Amino acid sequence: MDIEFVRSRFIKHFDGKTGNIYASPGRINLIGEHTDYNGGFVFPGAVDKGIMAEIRPNGLSTVIAYSIDLKDKVEFKVDDPVGPRATWARYIYGIVQEMRKLGVDVKGFNTAFAGDVPLGAGMSSSAALESCFAFALNDLFGGNKVSKWDLVLAGQATEHKYVGVNCGIMDQFASVFGQKGKLMRLDCRSREFEYFPFDPKGYKLVLLNSKVKHELKGSPYNDRRNSCENVVRAIAAAHPEGHFETLRDCTWEQLDEVRATVGEEDYKRAHFVLGEKDRVLAVSDALEKGDYETVGQKMYETHEGLSKEYEVSCEELDFLNEIAKADGVTGSRIMGGGFGGCTINLVKDEVYDTFIADAKEKFAAKYGHEPVVIPVVIGDGSRKIC
Ligand code: GLA
Repeated sequence: MDIEFVRSRFIKHFDGKTGNIYASPGRINLIGEHTDYNGGFVFPGAVDKGIMAEIRPNGLSTVIAYSIDLKDKVEFKVDDPVGPRATWARYIYGIVQEMRKLGVDVKGFNTAFAGDVPLGAGMSSSAALESCFAFALNDLFGGNKVSKWDLVLAGQATEHKYVGVNCGIMDQFASVFGQKGKLMRLDCRSREFEYFPFDPKGYKLVLLNSKVKHELKGSPYNDRRNSCENVVRAIAAAHPEGHFETLRDCTWEQLDEVRATVGEEDYKRAHFVLGEKDRVLAVSDALEKGDYETVGQKMYETHEGLSKEYEVSCEELDFLNEIAKADGVTGSRIMGGGFGGCTINLVKDEVYDTFIADAKEKFAAKYGHEPVVIPVVIGDGSRKIC
């Protein structure tokens, strides 16, 4: 992302003065999908792509925001009870409201921002936007008194309250806490996490973007979450002596006990989540031993579960997964919320070129366009650039 590009637009669309520039990344996730809102584990890392915003307080009580990519300008009062209609602006509006609740005296500001995370690719462009503004407002108006975790939660609350996606905390966590060259294993129940240096010799991580737009808003994403919560409620009702907050607190036996009560669909969803929790732990062990074959095998298992049990895949992503398997790729799966977007692939150096060429050719022959190849570079989290 180019600082001069953002600055030139900021100068052009406002009064010629410059402000501070902030950046926040999108994320990848090695494994641990749909586990965050179930109190499980995730394994994300920030990427070298994200959102960059220039911001300058304007002495008013109005936010004037310009999206460079969409060429759209929106204004709203800092204390507006309703907020703007445009979805991109609602992320900024939501962050303003949540930061005010955290005691930050947010005043009016001018901002122009741009992004290089592909939209709707499952790489968390929205979390990058939220985290960028949460970090910036904390710096500009809050003397950096708000903790990083509260910035994460402000982003999540924005999704829940102002956008309508009942997401977990993985994306905002990765965007705020990311570190160059490191993945992070986060326990979403306790919020404890560890950094894992990730530089597998002889392998590459690459995303293939199917360009099937994934849109979590108004999508069955919230239905998946509801299914999981139904199962937890059923297990809690059957075990009044226990304490069950999320599927993390439930065992395979308890899930089987309530199978008839919750019905096959909710059962399948929860079955995937329990399996995914185990897979993340198996991957952590394998990574410590440098056993990438096991990591890859678990990635395939996750894909299978996301496709058949959680049902968040689509034909195009299943097709990319099949090509990976046929080409001897070590691991491949849908990444992120699903319903489109990317596969993440762990590929041995010696099969990389064949796989990429094959994926492009076969996908284009079937769907009329090539998937976009995005080599993964693990980058830093939210930061002030200047
Ligand atoms: C989206 C959500 C995350 C997480 C993933 C699936 O990216 O924002 O909270 O649930 O889907 O793992």
